[in-house]
Amino acid sequence: MRKRFIAGNWKMHKTKEESLAYMQEFRQYIQGAKDVDIVLAVPFTLLETIKKEIENTGIGVAAQNIFYEEQGAFTGEVSAAMAKDFADYVIIGHSERRKYFNETNEIVNKKIKAAIGKGLKVIFCLGETQDERNQGKTKQVAETQLREGLAGLTIDNMKSIIIAYEPVWAIGTGNTATPEQAEEVHAFLREILKPVFNDQVAQETRIIYGGSVNPENASAILQKENIDGCLPGGASLDPQKLANIIKSQ
Ligand code: PGA
Repeated sequence: MRKRFIAGNWKMHKTKEESLAYMQEFRQYIQGAKDVDIVLAVPFTLLETIKKEIENTGIGVAAQNIFYEEQGAFTGEVSAAMAKDFADYVIIGHSERRKYFNETNEIVNKKIKAAIGKGLKVIFCLGETQDERNQGKTKQVAETQLREGLAGLTIDNMKSIIIAYEPVWAIGTGNTATPEQAEEVHAFLREILKPVFNDQVAQETRIIYGGSVNPENASAILQKENIDGCLPGGASLDPQKLANIIKSQ
């Protein structure tokens, strides 16, 4: 059985004060949530604050990015080791990083390796654009992103990977994939893990869905066999909404 995994991606939102107010509410709303890994992916500036806020709650904290170099003259960047001072996880390969910061599969792969090397767990995002879907290239794109993103990883490394299928056309648009559309790609990705790694990796790796998840649509998505959790962005900014997604049956 794969344990459910739900991560809220705050993106570039919230000051320290706003995050403290959020946490006060969130801790109450999620009381009673069980059999689920809960993670908050917050801006670098909030990692230390949120790490303190989640002490003894079982909640994890994620960075939203790292740079792959260990250290050096890279103004404005944060290394895996620096993020690891505060975070348990890091999101890598998010479509906004790919689109606005020109991150290629090769860069994503380097970042994943750097993160695992420092003991971070990785929420590895991939997914097709609307154009690619229209052209019937959804699976081809997902497969390439998966294979190139995970190139060179060992079977053991895969224990640190959570895959997030996030169709770009569903992110921030309110246009969520149907549970069937998502399940089809999740099942496909799981199949590819077999030849690339082995059957056990395919069976045990969690594949979560992201793209306009909200408390109303979460339950239908989470019921699908190959969907092991979700990565809400917009909805996660509201502690009540995120808690309701987490408690979805
Ligand atoms: P959204 O974002 O829930 O606002 O669509 C999801 C994501 O980008 O991870």
